[in-house]
Amino acid sequence: MNKTSVKVPRVEGIPQTGAHVPLIERYRERLPFAAGDPLVSLQEGSTPLLRAPVLSEMVGATVRLKLEGANPTGSFKDRGMTCAVSAAVREGAKAVLCASTGNTAASAAAYAARAGITCAVIVPEGKIAQGKLAQTLIHGARVISLAGNFDQALELVRELTAAHPIVLVNSVNEFRIEGQKTAAFEVHEDLEGELQALCIPVGNAGNITAYWRGFRELGATPKLLGFQAEGAAPLVLGHVVEHPETVASAIRIGNPVRWEEAMAAATDSRGAIRAVSDSEILAAFRLLASKEGMFCEPASAASVAGLLKYGAEGAEQIVCVLTGRGLKDPETAIAHNDGRVIPCPVEIGPIEEAVLGDP
Ligand code: F0G
Repeated sequence: MNKTSVKVPRVEGIPQTGAHVPLIERYRERLPFAAGDPLVSLQEGSTPLLRAPVLSEMVGATVRLKLEGANPTGSFKDRGMTCAVSAAVREGAKAVLCASTGNTAASAAAYAARAGITCAVIVPEGKIAQGKLAQTLIHGARVISLAGNFDQALELVRELTAAHPIVLVNSVNEFRIEGQKTAAFEVHEDLEGELQALCIPVGNAGNITAYWRGFRELGATPKLLGFQAEGAAPLVLGHVVEHPETVASAIRIGNPVRWEEAMAAATDSRGAIRAVSDSEILAAFRLLASKEGMFCEPASAASVAGLLKYGAEGAEQIVCVLTGRGLKDPETAIAHNDGRVIPCPVEIGPIEEAVLGDP
């Protein structure tokens, strides 16, 4: 795509925000792409930063939500995937492969479809949310369901890509981190450098690594507060978790590939990596949906669960990254909410009772 084909609408009086500009175009001078390189884009990035009044009141600070679910496939993975797949196409690759808890798979499948190359994904059997599986299949990727967990899947794809001409698009791929660091640029720009703490869920630890790289490139130093699920918290425990378990299937990971970098991001930013329980994650998940009107997936709610559990710790301007949208995982939302579905015959009396009666 050349620059002239991407026109930013210029309406008088409306500031130019960079919205609708593909991520690599918007940040080209800070990314490893030259003008004229082939770009595979679905117009990712430029996601909203939403004020969260209820959370702000609860923690006594200004809290905003970085809505990464607004990316084309519904998660932050698209930032890294536009870069990883564009680079793969630039190298002449014909196939990409990843291990995934679901979102990387959906994103890789979409960008590979867009690029006209093949994609295969290896996912832990029975442990990826329905929305993600639906996306990956409809985009035409080959889906392999491994009788094992994410960490084992990742080991296998590393072995396979070392032996075959297939590009690995997990966050071991540097282009993924490069793309994902742009979220830090956006937050920094939107808050004019005033950010003091960033709360973020941590699984394979690529995203916290990417944010820290992005902030450092700008000379910004917010505290990075990473949160893992209690049953999948290797960085908190200081050892690999052989059998990770959590309701937040996206971060059900026991041996993160960016382990050292994530610890360095927390330490160097004077932040921390801490654990939140599944019930704390689910409480934050419901609170976001019912009080802030924001439906994210359970893993994303770990950032807010952590903020509520550990507090603002003196920060006045806080951003919680909501990494993926709620529709990714309808099963968990249906299983864990305070509402109920009321069956009703086609008659005015029962309808009246159902609508107006005591809940
Ligand atoms: N939130 C969501 C919604 C995710 O899908 C992931 C990771 C994370 C947070 C954690 O990010 O791994 O960079 O620390 N999902 C990967 C996947 C593992 O396969 O989709 P991380």
